[in-house]
Amino acid sequence: MKCRKCGGSAVINMRQHKLALCAEDYAAWLPDQVQKSIEKYRMFTSADKVLVAVSGGKDSLGLWDILCKLGYKADGLYIGLGIDGGFGYSDQSRQLSQQFADAHGLRLHVVEVESTYGATIPELAVISNRGHGKPCSVCGLNKRYIMNRVAHDGGYTALATGHNLDDEVAVLMQNTLVWAGGYLARQAPVLEANRPGLARKVKPLCRVYEREMAAYALVRGIEYIYDECPHAVGSTTIANKEVLNQLEESRPGAKLQFYLNFLQAKAAGLFNVPASEAELHACERCGQPTTAPGECSFCRLWDKVRTVKGLPECVPAALGAMPDSQFPQ
Ligand code: AMP
Ligand code: FES
Ligand code: ZN
Repeated sequence: MKCRKCGGSAVINMRQHKLALCAEDYAAWLPDQVQKSIEKYRMFTSADKVLVAVSGGKDSLGLWDILCKLGYKADGLYIGLGIDGGFGYSDQSRQLSQQFADAHGLRLHVVEVESTYGATIPELAVISNRGHGKPCSVCGLNKRYIMNRVAHDGGYTALATGHNLDDEVAVLMQNTLVWAGGYLARQAPVLEANRPGLARKVKPLCRVYEREMAAYALVRGIEYIYDECPHAVGSTTIANKEVLNQLEESRPGAKLQFYLNFLQAKAAGLFNVPASEAELHACERCGQPTTAPGECSFCRLWDKVRTVKGLPECVPAALGAMPDSQFPQ
């Protein structure tokens, strides 16, 4: 197959775009597509200070690479979850993220959950018994909290995650299957920082297929962790992705159409659900915004863990200004 731009030999054929490209043209084409999304959804401009949440995977490292190529000021944040899975999942992810940062002269903030707060994510899951000992829900809670906190306290004007089109469509399908109106109303390429203490969240890869990100990492020579988180095996998201891939196979472009039509329907008011009655207020302990009365769920979770493990009291209120790359203990 020939590259549509130069006639050279194509490395990727994107049936959804009726476009085949060679390595060089593809490495230039994809950042252009991302730039279009950044502009279309008014994510940020070159005046912004962006924080990219990097997991060591192809999407977030590819995103960091693209943002730098496009000339944005973007630092990284890696959160060490303490997940081993028999192959050092978290250690490898951190090492690959650090390696990328060093090779490109970029700044990477690292927050290790265990050394900062006192337990690994799998340990936290067992102690808290949330999600019946499965770590995904406490993991999500910790990642969201830490990302928001580092972005907000560090003065970043946008927090970018590597969620790609396949991620977005899998969530969309799940929320549609159960008509989760509130979640559908909130799913968007940009979540505004409309309350004090909240960081602005953006997903620049929301229109990029997962397969396109894998190809980008390959042509750019980005080393990333191939394995999924060991706890993700058997998840609903993975099952949804398989169904959606079958659909895409028979109807190229189906995933993109599902997502873009959803955004259009939302803009036309189809998912206008009444705003939740629950008011956000500052957590009594750490000051982060929360709907829970008193302390936020992050602080309550860690209170419980510290009591069970007999750890000394840590005062998150002291975590005011963010030092170099970690919260103080
Ligand atoms: P996931 O929820 O694992 O599909 O990841 C979605 C996005 O969240 C990734 O593309 C990253 O931007 C971010 N992310 C996931 N894990 C981490 C981590 N350990 N540290 C920093 N960011 C992460
Ligand atoms: Fe959080 Fe798997 S449990 S990344
Ligand atoms: Zn709190």
